[in-house]
Amino acid sequence: MPVKMRQIGPCFAAEVEGIDMRKPLSPDEVATIHAGMDEYAVLVFHDQPIDDEQQLAFTGSLGELEHSTGSSLRAPEEYRLPNTFADVSNLDQNQKPFARDDRRRLFAIGNRLWHSDSSFKVIPAKYSLLHARSIPSRGGNTEFADMRAAYDALDVETKAEIQDLICEHSQIFSRQQLGFTDFTDEERARFKPVRQRLVRVHPSTGRKSLYLASHAGSIIGWPVPEARAFLRDLNEHATQREFVYVHRWRVGDLVMWDNRRTMHRARPFPAHEPRDVRRTTLVGDGPTAVQVD
Ligand SMILES: [Fe+2]
Repeated sequence: MPVKMRQIGPCFAAEVEGIDMRKPLSPDEVATIHAGMDEYAVLVFHDQPIDDEQQLAFTGSLGELEHSTGSSLRAPEEYRLPNTFADVSNLDQNQKPFARDDRRRLFAIGNRLWHSDSSFKVIPAKYSLLHARSIPSRGGNTEFADMRAAYDALDVETKAEIQDLICEHSQIFSRQQLGFTDFTDEERARFKPVRQRLVRVHPSTGRKSLYLASHAGSIIGWPVPEARAFLRDLNEHATQREFVYVHRWRVGDLVMWDNRRTMHRARPFPAHEPRDVRRTTLVGDGPTAVQVD
C-alpha cells in the first residue's frame, strides 16, 4: 500500500496512511517518513497495535535511539520500561497510577509546560515517537507548536536580536516555575544547566526556528529577570493558537515530532486514571552550542 500524507490542522502536521509498524520498513518507507518530517514536523499514524519491541524496531530504523537513564525522578529500580523508552506515563513499576502527591508525578507535571524533549541534554533530541497504549476517559491531549512559523512571524529587529543568543536549559528551571524545588544535591548535579542556541537552523531544510522550552531559564550575558521576561514573551508569541496543533489521542496512535522545530505540552487528565503512553526518542546530531564547565 503506498504511503499517503494528508495535512491536518496547521500546515506542520499530517496524518500518514500506509505504514504498518509491525513490519520492517523498506528503504523507500524510511525515506518517505524522513521527507515527511522535513515537510511537516508532526506526523500522526493511527491504528498501530505495536508492542515495545516493534516500537523500538520502528524507531531504530529511523536513527539512533536516545536513552532515558537519569532524566526523571524514577530510580533505576523503579523503571517500568527499559531505558530505551522515556516512560511518560503516570504509572509506577506495578502499573498503578502514582498517588496525587508522589514527587515523581509532580516532577512529571512539568511536561504540561511547553517544551522540547531533552533540551536539557547537551545533545538534545531529534524526533520523539509517542505511542498510546491506554488513555484516560478525558483530557490528556498533546499540543504542538510550530517554532518555524513562530520564528518567521517575528519582526526583523527581534530576529536580529536573538540570532546569536545562547540559553541555559535545565529541568530545575522548568519545575521551579511550578513551585517544585524539592531536589536532592544529587539531582541538582544531574540536572545542571546546558547551553542551547535560541535560533536553530534545520539541517535538512535550512530554515530557521525558535528553540524554546520551559527548561530555558537564562540567556548568557543577560540579567536573569530580563532574560526570563524576554523568554516568556517569546513563548507567548510562539504558542498562539495559529501555530498550534492539538492531538486528541486514540489508543494505537503513534505521533512523531521533530523537537528541533516544535514545542509540545501534555494537557491534564484525571490523576487516578492510567495514561500509558510510551516514548522512544532519536538523538540529535550534536550540541547546538559550545558548553562551558
Ligand atoms: Fe515531552
